[in-house]
Amino acid sequence: GPQCDLQGLWRNELGSNMTILAMNTAGTFSGSYHTAVAATKKQILVSPLQGVQQHPSAKRHPTFSFIVQWQFSDSTTAFVGQCFVDHHGKETLETMWLLREEVLSHKDTWKATRVGTSTFTRIK
Ligand code: BTN
Repeated sequence: GPQCDLQGLWRNELGSNMTILAMNTAGTFSGSYHTAVAATKKQILVSPLQGVQQHPSAKRHPTFSFIVQWQFSDSTTAFVGQCFVDHHGKETLETMWLLREEVLSHKDTWKATRVGTSTFTRIK
């Protein structure tokens, strides 16, 4: 089957959009993330992401991870996932994420992390 290419414009089930730029030979990439939703009431801003693809060459279903440095929030989010391509050549990113919120007290650490799954499909 064809290769799975992370580069491009992707959208998830929440309506969030992300752009992944070209990967370098070391497998690292950057991009931007425009979330459709937020846990804060602050105005959402497009935010940079930094990632790494495992085994950058000759991989059909590569694993990857990336982190988003939110420009409007004290939280941080890490995504891990895998790219799949079906027999029509349609690519899907199956991910899970952890969102760590900044809590003001060590005692609040129990409620500081959210977790979820997210599926991205290519829009460009
Ligand atoms: C924040 O709320 O503090 C920053 C924005 C977090 C958006 C989260 S990250 C996981 C989930 N998937 C998305 O596309 N948006 C939310």
